[in-house]
Amino acid sequence: MGNVDLKNKVRGLLKKRKAIMLAHNYQRPEIQDAADLCGDSLELSIKAAQTDAEVIVFCGVHFMAETASILSPEKTVLQPRMDAGCPMADMVTPEALLKKLDEISPMPVVTYVNSTAAVKALSTICCTSANVVKVVNSLDADEILMVPDKNLAKYASLHTKKKLHFWDGYCPIHNMLTPETVLLAKEKHPGAVFMAHPECRPEVLELADFVLSTSGMIRHAVESENKSFIVGTEAGILHQLKKANPSKRFYPVSPEMECSDMKKITLEDVAVSLENMEGEVKVPGKIRIPAKEAVRRMLDLSISK
Ligand code: 13P
Ligand code: SF4
Repeated sequence: MGNVDLKNKVRGLLKKRKAIMLAHNYQRPEIQDAADLCGDSLELSIKAAQTDAEVIVFCGVHFMAETASILSPEKTVLQPRMDAGCPMADMVTPEALLKKLDEISPMPVVTYVNSTAAVKALSTICCTSANVVKVVNSLDADEILMVPDKNLAKYASLHTKKKLHFWDGYCPIHNMLTPETVLLAKEKHPGAVFMAHPECRPEVLELADFVLSTSGMIRHAVESENKSFIVGTEAGILHQLKKANPSKRFYPVSPEMECSDMKKITLEDVAVSLENMEGEVKVPGKIRIPAKEAVRRMLDLSISK
């Protein structure tokens, strides 16, 4: 079956199951095009909390489907490929976090949404790449522990007076981007604006014209008078960037920025998942209730601007 037929099949199944399909900006183009909403982690969490659909099919990685289940426990959340995970989320375990909290003086824990539900359950508040600075500055504390992304924490530390303690986690895709690669791309595309994701290393972010979440990049490219952009994040975002800006040019900073986990789900997987109601993600109440507190605090801050 071709992509058009598969898309029609998926749309038909979504209607039959009273389901909504959410996709992250890094997903395969045909998944993005079939979804009801394509967005960054914050937008997708907000939608998962607010939808009145009975079923949420989450096309992203495991922590995203978990977050949807945390926010909407009465709904069925399906993840069409259970093996799509986030290596960064696995860099902090609840046991390791508890050990760390035992060793340091008491302080709030800000946890990036790229983390397991069990780690969120031990956290004060969550954050995404879109709201990290706002979340950090909202806390009534001079010192904060940030998990798991050290690069995101270092970026936030440039925009706060608080002392941030870093965890040694990182996104393998963003962390491998070097200043040398960025400088080569700048040389190749003179005049292009360099947009980078805050999961990149500090020395890469120093070279960025703008540091933005994935949807922040799309909005920026739409609003900007510039015509060409070097894109410092996972390549899947190029689809939305080009769709929203047909007359502008986008150059991936490196051909290596591909997250294999974000590319696992195919349209066939979505159809099978909806047909058989397979791949349900459910967070047990003991973890869900404290994890929801941490996610809710973040959403309250982000929705009420
Ligand atoms: P955002 O889309 O929230 O910027 O997140 C990037 C990411 O790495 C998700 O895995
Ligand atoms: Fe995780 Fe990085 Fe892939 Fe996002 S791009 S899912 S942070 S490994």
